[in-house]
Order: sequence, then C-alpha cells, then structure tokens
Amino acid sequence: PLVAMRQLLDHAAEYQYALPAFNVNNLEQMRAIMEAADHTNSPVIVQASAGARNYAGAPFLRHLMLAAAEEFPHIPIVMHQDHGTSPAVCQRAIQLGFTSVMMDGSLASDGKTPTDYGYNVAVTRQVVDMAHACGVSVEGELGCLGSLETGEAGEEDGIGAAGKLDHTRLLTDPDEAAAFVAATQVDALAIAIGTSHGAYKFKRPPTGETLAIERVREIHERLPNTHLVMHGSSSVPQEWLAIINDHGGAIPPTWGVPVEEIVRAIKFGVRKVNIDTDLRLAATGAIRRYMAAHPAEFDPRKYLQESVIAMRDICIARFAAFGCVGQA
Ligand code: G3H
Ligand code: 13P
Ligand code: NA
Ligand code: ZN
Repeated sequence: PLVAMRQLLDHAAEYQYALPAFNVNNLEQMRAIMEAADHTNSPVIVQASAGARNYAGAPFLRHLMLAAAEEFPHIPIVMHQDHGTSPAVCQRAIQLGFTSVMMDGSLASDGKTPTDYGYNVAVTRQVVDMAHACGVSVEGELGCLGSLETGEAGEEDGIGAAGKLDHTRLLTDPDEAAAFVAATQVDALAIAIGTSHGAYKFKRPPTGETLAIERVREIHERLPNTHLVMHGSSSVPQEWLAIINDHGGAIPPTWGVPVEEIVRAIKFGVRKVNIDTDLRLAATGAIRRYMAAHPAEFDPRKYLQESVIAMRDICIARFAAFGCVGQA
C-alpha cells in the first residue's frame, strides 16, 4: 500500500535501519525498484523530481507509482516528491496523491540561489501546515549540497546551488538544525555534509575532509529524535564506470559516497538515503554492453530488460546494506 513517509521512518528509527529513496522517471526504473523490494521484502520510498515530471509528465509518473502499489500490495511504498522548489509545487503534489513532499527551501524557487534561514523556515512551515492537514509527510533541507573541496554544487542540471559556496553553507550547523526543526516541525531533515548530486562528487575516494560523516553524528546529538536524510548518496560504482567506458562511453575518473560510509551515517540517525545516479550508471552500462554484444538486435525490450536487471541488483544491494531486508 501507499504509506506516509513518517510511518516508514519511525519504523526505521525504531529498528535502526534506513530506507533508500530511489528516483523514478520511467517504467524500467519502477520495475527494477519494485522487483528488488519484493525480492528482499523491503519497504521503499520512490521519488519524483521536477526533471522526472518534465520527462514523463505528472499523470504518467503518478500512475507508475499507483501501478507499483497495485502490483505489489504487500510492500509499503512512499510516493515522495523530491526537491519541491515552492509551496505551490508541494501543494500540487499533495493534490495528486503524493504521501510525502520535500520542500527544499535551502534554495530559492529557481533551484539555484541559496536562501537565508528566515525564508527557509517560512516556506517550509507553510508546507508543513498544509501537508500535515492532509496526512502527508514533509522533508525539509538545511544547508546546501556541494563539494567541501571546491565549493561547487556538482554537475547535475537540476537542483544545485550556482557559484561557489563556503563551509558555513556546505556543512549544516547542528544548533541551526535544532532551531529549524523546532520552528518548522518537519518529519525529516536533509543535511549538507559534502555530497553533491550527480556522478561528479569527489575527485578521489572521499576522506573525513571531503565527506563529513562526523557532522551527521554532531547533528544527531542535538536532534536525537529527528529523521536525517542524505542527498547525493550514490556510490558511483567503479565497476559500472568501467563497463560504460569499455563499451564506447567516456566518463572521466570520479568517485561517490562509499556504501560503508552511508552505513556509518545510519548509525548516526540517517533514515532516508537518496539515490538516482547509481541507477542511471547501471542502466547505461547494461544497455551499452548489450548493444555492443548484439548489434543486430532492435527490440527495445531486449536492451531495456538488461537495464532493469542491472538497476534491480543495485537496489537489492542497497536494501541489504541499509538493513531493510524483511522490514516490509
Ligand atoms: O535531485 C536530483 C535528482 O538526481 C533528480 O535529478 O532533476 O535530473 O531528475 P533530475
Ligand atoms: P545522486 O545523484 O547521488 O544519486 O543523488 C540523488 C538525490 O539526492 C536526489 O534528491
Ligand atoms: Na527528497
Ligand atoms: Zn537531492
């Protein structure tokens, strides 16, 4: 069934695990996620970005999620709107039947300009009032995603600050986080700890200097009862980069967030882990490899099915690592 996010995150906190939140844009991603959830008996969060709405259209996205609930009635599914850029966007998602919305007030409605604390509190509080009246959960965000080394938000064209940011914005402040949660009453709080969206997070494997898992611990100490969210949490598997590049791709060397670092963050109160890029990389690698091996094939179902298997296996691995297996 469709469930509110608060319900799943409360359960995850009680049993000390975290939910991956996978982005969906099309049928193949949805099938991969649901087959993995079914295989591992895991609850799941599926989320739609503004980019997904532009690609598939809101009605198709909505019905993909409803179809997942219909085909897998035994799996609890959160239908979450990722990175809402204004209260109006969140209101529209609530109207469409989303059970959870993110109001990302860390950036202005252009998705690029960093905002001040007062703006963030005001828009987030407005969404909480509206959403809670409808039984819908709310994720807020305090701090801006971006590299602690370069101050850049990453290569993703969607959500991300423009220009260079300093550490006061790139690392969420624990005291400010406590004040933000008290003022807004959000159900979950996304924090900034040095990750960014997309494949280009780190120029070398991250260290404590570039990926501040310790900051998660500090925030959790101030907010022991708040569900924390990590964005930009793809691991950028080196084996998929190699498969892409061995079959005509040209992705420069790059690193993501190691799964074992996410597991450490889960011990410090992270309950939702956003993953999009890993499924994109796996799908691209699987399709490139299939096309190279089967140059005469032209039935899209053949190569798209390879992408489903590759994405499904990533989802299964994340459900297992984050402690979701058997929690449905
Ligand atoms: O928030 C970032 C997600 O990876 C969604 O990306 O806007 O390209 O769909 P997108
Ligand atoms: P990745 O680009 O690391 O997969 O992050 C996705 C995300 O945070 C969506 O909100
Ligand atoms: Na989100
Ligand atoms: Zn995000």
